[in-house]
Amino acid sequence: MKILLLGKNGQVGWELQRSLAPLGEVLALDRHSTPWCGDLSQPERLAQTVRDLRPDVVVNAAAHTAVDKAESEPELARCLNATAPAALAKAAAEVGAWLVHYSTDYVFNGQGDQPWQEGGATAPLSVYGQTKLEGEQAIAAACAKHLVFRTSWVYAARGGNFAKTMLRLAAERERLTVIDDQHGAPTGADLIADVTAHAIRCVLQQQDLAGVYHLVAAGETTWHGYASHVIATARQIKPDLALQVKEVAPVSTASFPTPAQRPLNSRLSTHKLQQSFGLVLPPWQQGVDRMLAEML
Ligand SMILES: NC(=O)c1ccc[n+]([C@@H]2O[C@H](COP(=O)([O-])OP(=O)(O)OC[C@H]3O[C@@H](n4cnc5c(N)ncnc54)[C@H](OP(=O)(O)O)[C@@H]3O)[C@@H](O)[C@H]2O)c1
Repeated sequence: MKILLLGKNGQVGWELQRSLAPLGEVLALDRHSTPWCGDLSQPERLAQTVRDLRPDVVVNAAAHTAVDKAESEPELARCLNATAPAALAKAAAEVGAWLVHYSTDYVFNGQGDQPWQEGGATAPLSVYGQTKLEGEQAIAAACAKHLVFRTSWVYAARGGNFAKTMLRLAAERERLTVIDDQHGAPTGADLIADVTAHAIRCVLQQQDLAGVYHLVAAGETTWHGYASHVIATARQIKPDLALQVKEVAPVSTASFPTPAQRPLNSRLSTHKLQQSFGLVLPPWQQGVDRMLAEML
């Protein structure tokens, strides 16, 4: 099997390089790759790469993920998140390839307190959410053989992440303020990549599994709950860790104005994914604790 991976150095892309390796030959590209084009800002060249390489599966882990910046550069966000996935989908359909793509809970408006189902009404609050939704829709329209995984609150051991930021601030300050009215599940890039590899094997056997799936770790928390968990677990793992922090104070989203509006309810139901692929998604704490154990 030949797999074309785009966005190889992102959080999810990096883990996909590992998880896809046992499935076959993986050609992994980033935006600077040559001679093959892996640059989402050049949709036509990207599509030509798919036509030339004729992979069995295209996995697109690249995107415009700077949620606040997207508000001031909507054209670029639309090109990367909608136009390029549309071009990939057309080219994948032409060569008979599967297209695997990632989307976000930001396609929803975040109202209510129930987990969103895949078929729930979409109503993005931001340019990022809107362009990601357009990408999903273009893929479904152009390439029947698609898997779109909507995820949320992604972290990875490699590079910066929320847990590392909280631990740095906890070492510097006695009081932290963290948002406590956004609800979701921190989800490891490693989990997303592992589930992707499993799902690819399944759809190659059973084409009617194509579609949109919610893919997040089990359970839920707030950013405040997440930060408190990280600090408490870090202290357990390494009691001599020099943390100054004495209080993690909960604050509302309204206290941290940002250019892009965030949904308050990012809970995603993963029932469809677990049933369809015979998987059990672990609680979010499991992945976060593992990352902390490796990091500290
Ligand atoms: N992060 C989250 O919390 C989150 C939540 C929900 C859904 N998602 C979705 O999950 C997927 C993976 O996200 P992630 O967290 O792994 O994101 P990430 O770490 O920000 O990675 C995105 C990758 O896209 C690449 N990229 C940006 N512009 C590009 C271009 N013009 N051409 C090619 N590549 C380009 C970036 O490359 P450079 O490193 O060169 O900039 C980066 O490697 C995305 O579809 C995202 O929308 C993420």
